[in-house]
Amino acid sequence: MRLVNSAEESSSSNQDELFAAALAQEVVRRRNFAIISHPDAGKTTLTEKLLLYGGAIQQAGAVKARGEQRKVTSDWMDLEKQRGISITSTVLQFDYSDTTINLLDTPGHQDFSEDTYRTLAAADNAVMLEDAAKGLEPQTRKLFEVCRMRQIPIFTFFNKMDRPGQEPLALLDEIEAELGLATWAVNWPIGSGEQFRGVVDRRTKEVILFDRAERGKQSSERHLAINDPQLQNLVEDELLDKALEEIELLEAAGSEMDLELIHAGELTPVFFGSAMTNFGVRPFLDAFLEMAQLPVARISSDGPVDPLTPNFSGFVFKLQANMDPRHRDRVAFVRVCSGRFEKDMNVRHARTGKMLRLSRPQKIFGQDRAVVDDAYPGDVIGLNNPGMFVIGDTLYTGKRVEYEGIPCFSPEIFSWLRNPNPSSFKNFRKGVNELREEGAVQILYDTDQSKRDPILAAVGQLQLEVVQHRLENEYGVSTQLEPMGFQVARWVTGGWTVLDELGRIFNCKTVQDAWQRPVLLFKNDWNLSQLQEDHPDLELCSVAPVVSGVDPIKL
Ligand code: G4P
Repeated sequence: MRLVNSAEESSSSNQDELFAAALAQEVVRRRNFAIISHPDAGKTTLTEKLLLYGGAIQQAGAVKARGEQRKVTSDWMDLEKQRGISITSTVLQFDYSDTTINLLDTPGHQDFSEDTYRTLAAADNAVMLEDAAKGLEPQTRKLFEVCRMRQIPIFTFFNKMDRPGQEPLALLDEIEAELGLATWAVNWPIGSGEQFRGVVDRRTKEVILFDRAERGKQSSERHLAINDPQLQNLVEDELLDKALEEIELLEAAGSEMDLELIHAGELTPVFFGSAMTNFGVRPFLDAFLEMAQLPVARISSDGPVDPLTPNFSGFVFKLQANMDPRHRDRVAFVRVCSGRFEKDMNVRHARTGKMLRLSRPQKIFGQDRAVVDDAYPGDVIGLNNPGMFVIGDTLYTGKRVEYEGIPCFSPEIFSWLRNPNPSSFKNFRKGVNELREEGAVQILYDTDQSKRDPILAAVGQLQLEVVQHRLENEYGVSTQLEPMGFQVARWVTGGWTVLDELGRIFNCKTVQDAWQRPVLLFKNDWNLSQLQEDHPDLELCSVAPVVSGVDPIKL
């Protein structure tokens, strides 16, 4: 009897070991990143080239139809096409040289920073893409701050080197001085614009020649040793000498390559290239895969959770309704954080404690989707969301974990949303509730129950337009917006009791959020500081605190 038991024990421990080894192998193969940039820096173009290398698309232009309005694999909404902007984000997974890469696509327009912010919560690395002629731009700075807060490693790619750009040393200085981020150039440009001849790879001491490849084609990228006599005929002496002098300067005075500092988000590897002409993209991808952070331990209520923990866990970082208008579906995007996810798995929903069977997990690639059988840390899966998930929700098997939530941006634009047609109230209500759940906009409510119209609270004006547009197109309700004239919102940390004790307060309007917590709206910062001067003990918070364990109220 004892013999049988010990045989069983040893076979189960063998299985555990095999599982752990297989899991470790998958985790080591995974890289995950998001691109942060200012509109027009070339994010769509770079994404397209990366996908071409990964074989995920077969031809250039599959991502972005040239000559017509902007259209990205991940841009699926009419409004995006009409306005030529990228609002929503999805995930693009592709394999390249035995690595599975998850590219978390982020919207380019600043009015949708909140969506980008949530996506960055699911990213292990970020690529900061800059136009070499423009250097740092506002949207990039803002998104960089989010990366810094989360200590995400940043890889910098200076794009458009085929066009006249700023001096490369000045570009590095700007990052160091303005972002306080040390730089380490992996390659260094030889000339720029018409005189761009290629880059010197500082690690291999090779020159990679630029050959102005036909648009969309993969460039041949000829490599020559730095002392190869052929170089004399291919690159002007003064251009090569200048590049080599600058490299010497970097060797003497610049930072050293240090993987630990890169992973701590304190040192950024820098690359120069041209996404449009497909120059420098492959070397960038190769170096990125080598240096990028593997799926990292995520912070939960019980401390960090190692991705190699055998039990599955993950969190919802994005919700999206009606991605495919033909199916009217609602998808919750889950970042896998630990263990192995399997189709048909029973998992626990941390906020409600309910068990769920995940029977149709999907891999989403722009508009296309396929059922996934398994997924590993660093991957993102799409779950059909029949209204039970909110952003930040944790799913797990085994021992309970709950990941730290994703706070919202503080809204700055407030508007009543009117539904002039009472017969469409049902659709209006459904649309408002669903769009709030997916975080398209924050919804506040008047404290006076008789005023049933919701208040839309947004970070950017376009967010409101998107809500109206979607209500009309997806729910068949035409609505009106009535601006409220407030610009600042503050959550009262102590809740209604504290507010009641305060008595009457002036120059602000009290409303409530979907969790029935008091929110004060002010016309300007001055009114806010006045209140704070009058009530120095009143604790206010500029973003909605993360909620756990309760369901939001609905319209
Ligand atoms: P975004 O997603 O960051 O907004 O930028 P996107 O890729 O759409 O690129 C913005 C513009 O910059 C595009 O030109 C694109 O072709 C161009 N571009 C991207 N990378 C490079 C590069 O390496 N060199 C040069 N010279 N241009 C680059 P467009 O005129 O707006 O569009 P299109 O007519 O080229 O499609």
